[in-house]
Amino acid sequence: MGSPVSTIAEVGKHEGQSVSIRGWLYNLRESGKLLFPQFRDGTGVIQGVVAKNAVPAEVFDAVKGLSQESSVIAEGKVRADKRAPGGYELDVSNVQVIQRVPESDPYPISLKEHGVDFLMEHRHLWVRSPRQAAILRIRAEIIKAARDFFDGRGFVLTDPPILTPAACEGTTTLFPVDYFDEQAFLTQSGQLYIEATAMALGKVYSFGPTFRAEKSKTRRHLTEFWMVEPEVAFADLDDLMELAEGLVSFVVKRCLEKRRADLQMTGRDVSKLETVQPPFPRISYDDAVKMLQEAHKKGALESNFEWGGDLGSPDETYISSQFDRPVMVHRYPAKVKAFYMEPDPQRPELALCVDVLAPEGYGEIIGGSQRMASYDLLLQRIHEHGLPEEAFKWYLDLRKYGSVPHSGFGMGIERVVAWICGLEHVRETIPFPRMLYRLYP
Ligand code: 4AD
Ligand code: MG
Repeated sequence: MGSPVSTIAEVGKHEGQSVSIRGWLYNLRESGKLLFPQFRDGTGVIQGVVAKNAVPAEVFDAVKGLSQESSVIAEGKVRADKRAPGGYELDVSNVQVIQRVPESDPYPISLKEHGVDFLMEHRHLWVRSPRQAAILRIRAEIIKAARDFFDGRGFVLTDPPILTPAACEGTTTLFPVDYFDEQAFLTQSGQLYIEATAMALGKVYSFGPTFRAEKSKTRRHLTEFWMVEPEVAFADLDDLMELAEGLVSFVVKRCLEKRRADLQMTGRDVSKLETVQPPFPRISYDDAVKMLQEAHKKGALESNFEWGGDLGSPDETYISSQFDRPVMVHRYPAKVKAFYMEPDPQRPELALCVDVLAPEGYGEIIGGSQRMASYDLLLQRIHEHGLPEEAFKWYLDLRKYGSVPHSGFGMGIERVVAWICGLEHVRETIPFPRMLYRLYP
């Protein structure tokens, strides 16, 4: 095994030379005196050719009958082949088996179809499949792009706590934690804390896991998900919408630049992503309601939407299907939104908020708002929402000492991964999803 090590993604740099590939046996076809093992190493898959008359007998025998997911180091010469998926094949000269998966206990995920429950039970192995690996690479790219976006625009990363004394997004989805003699909760959002750091640093963001004890079993809900949240002093709702469309189009563009092959591997129609460029359409909640009511009249929507309710997922799906890029719905009734939103001075029954809905039925990927500036009104809302005033004393302080208009939003990473990859369900967007009935593995 004296040849230089190469990843599969980079074998092209070694065309005509011998390299060592370190990885796992993904698949094996046998055809008489030829074996066609496919190796994967986390960067890609490459087909090898083992000719009986070209290798020592023990090497041929070691590969013949080798079980799926056995770990190996394979040495061979890189040969360009237009028909090969990655453009190259490996003329194998030697294979060292690191660990042979026993015949008696084979790798459970064969290349045949499996049911979702089975795959979820084996998520620790399922992540090895080329499609799942591609999704995880795209996820990493999305996260990196979001960080680069904010880092490149003068935002300071400030990490909020995960153990918190109170709710941010409603008391019905809190995960309680025993905190010595006190009651604590896993954070639902870093927002309240980054409002404080925004008053210290101007433009800030947080990026971390957030938790919702959602009893809903939908394709959009996880109980643990990752959120990137910017918060900007002196920004109003219009500034916020510009920031949101800037972020979303930046992230999509980056994926198209750097992860096109992975997107194609997931089966994504990338032409649907090419149109994601600013400006995004902006429609008011009032207009959204009209749109939904007309859709009902035309028979395109079953139920008739009434002004005042929150948009449900069929409603979001309908609205977003009318556009070829994300659409921003602003100024919802304050009643259906969180306690901290600034009322619209023109119509105080509305909140200065925005939801960004992704196209193709993916629904809300971003939720944000201008924040309440008035101490008195904020205190009143805290009471109206049945929140413990004690726990919000520090938050109220922000309205006492140099209160300024400020705005922020949260973008859910898994929703964005699902949309960009074109996935049915958020369960495939995170290495180990946590859902209503899923805590294992
Ligand atoms: O709309 P949400 O609840 O907004 C907030 O938490 C604000 N405090 C954020 C802010 O203004 N700083 O959540 C924001 C986003 C949603 O648009 C969605 O993308 C995602 O977080 N999200 C979820 N993703 C997966 N599973 C869930 N249960 C989610 N709940 C929200
Ligand atoms: Mg929301």
